[in-house]
Amino acid sequence: NSKEPFAMVIFGGAGDLAQRKLFPALYTLHRSGFLPDNFSVLGVGRSPRETEDYRQFLRNAITQFARTEVDNEEEWSSFAERFDYLSIDVTDAGTYDELERAVAEQEKQFSLPGNRLFYLAVAPKLFGVVAENLKAGGLTENNGWKRLVIEKPFGRDYLSAEALQEQINRSFPEEEVYRIDHYLGKEMVQNIEVLRFANSLFENLWNNRYISNVQITAAEIVGVENRASYYDSAGALRDMVQNHILQLLMMVAMEPPSHLNPEAIHDEKVKVLRSLRRYEEHDVSQYMVRGQYTGGFIDDKEVPPYLNEENVPEGSTNETFVAGKLYIDNFRWSGVPFYIRTGKRMAEKSTEVVIQFRDVPKHLYFNKDNNLGSNLLVIKINPEEGLALQMNAKKPGVANQVVPIMMDFCNNCGVDTPEAYESLIRDALEGDRTFFTNWEEVSLAWRFIDPIRQAWDQEGEETLAPYESGSYGPKEADALLDQDGFQWVSPY
Ligand code: BG6
Repeated sequence: NSKEPFAMVIFGGAGDLAQRKLFPALYTLHRSGFLPDNFSVLGVGRSPRETEDYRQFLRNAITQFARTEVDNEEEWSSFAERFDYLSIDVTDAGTYDELERAVAEQEKQFSLPGNRLFYLAVAPKLFGVVAENLKAGGLTENNGWKRLVIEKPFGRDYLSAEALQEQINRSFPEEEVYRIDHYLGKEMVQNIEVLRFANSLFENLWNNRYISNVQITAAEIVGVENRASYYDSAGALRDMVQNHILQLLMMVAMEPPSHLNPEAIHDEKVKVLRSLRRYEEHDVSQYMVRGQYTGGFIDDKEVPPYLNEENVPEGSTNETFVAGKLYIDNFRWSGVPFYIRTGKRMAEKSTEVVIQFRDVPKHLYFNKDNNLGSNLLVIKINPEEGLALQMNAKKPGVANQVVPIMMDFCNNCGVDTPEAYESLIRDALEGDRTFFTNWEEVSLAWRFIDPIRQAWDQEGEETLAPYESGSYGPKEADALLDQDGFQWVSPY
């Protein structure tokens, strides 16, 4: 049942994620009729807060960040009264009795049946201990379903992820764990599946006979912001590639699932990672590039080099950019390079997948009068959502001249599409794990990442290519494609 009453507990209930993403998503879901009438939310955090202050904090967050406005006080009160706050030390198992009492009290107050959604919007080092303490404190012996929603990163490498998985599984079996990768909540990422499997036009060509290469770009304008304490030891490889970029790769490359259910879809995604060619440490320099931004200008504003950003350790060799050439060694994709690229402080904010089709035989229209382009399918994910298809056509009114033309579809023009967190929270409440990352995906992703990380950590500065802020990354990233006779197409 999609609208079962529930009690939600948000660890990190006064934190940044709650404020920017979770509250706005809950409110919009509520106003759109996607939440049951009956539910409760308990924010859990370290510093004490009065209930009324917490509800004011909730309101401010929604006013500032939600795409739905509060426009009716009565309606607002009936939403806000379901929110409460408790301050405990989440690392101390002894405080979970109090938590259990607070949740039970809300459940009683609103006559809830006992379904519980625990959301871990806290530092990763707390994931395991909170899961354990929830069990020790008796919170997992509830009457209805229980689910654990967990943010990234899930581990720092394969071994730490495995240890965390074991620790969590003692309280929540895998089918109750909902690992967030917010890219999977994005409209156009979910649309890749539809585009591929609901159109004969693309699926028949979706293989190495017709596709020459695939390009996945996730470029950002922002720098490290105030997150250096996390980011400087994660790097772009762990921050973006291990999760978001590999998820995009799986969505593009997977075989059609037998059904549209989470198990069938995860089976196919996992197979992509099993076929993903793993690089040994000594291969890394040939296939992977990493970089760090230097100073520069973005939108005419001068921005500092990574090394001068707040809290970045002196001489840090952390990467803020990664590019790579990946291969999926299976029947469908044998020989097709998947170029990936992500970085901070790049020229624009753009997440895109480009499918480049093979060219027609080079006679007839290929001559000096024509500037033909390859057929391209561009899947625009963020900030613009849409699809574009590049073809060649006769230049209107000119004899014998052929030019590339673009068919463009915009998915979010004049339409306010949902935020990733709205669809993911809704799915978690409905028990649909399709767009969450399962353990096999996480573990195989780390197996791919680990040797790359090791190579880079050992070689340090030697492997770090500087790139100017406001550029598209170091030239070494262009060379990865040049060698094969291709060029980055994005941002289109
Ligand atoms: C997060 C990373 O997962 O994704 C951030 O930790 C990054 O470093 C963000 O900025 C990018 O997300 P989006 O949705 O803006 O592309």
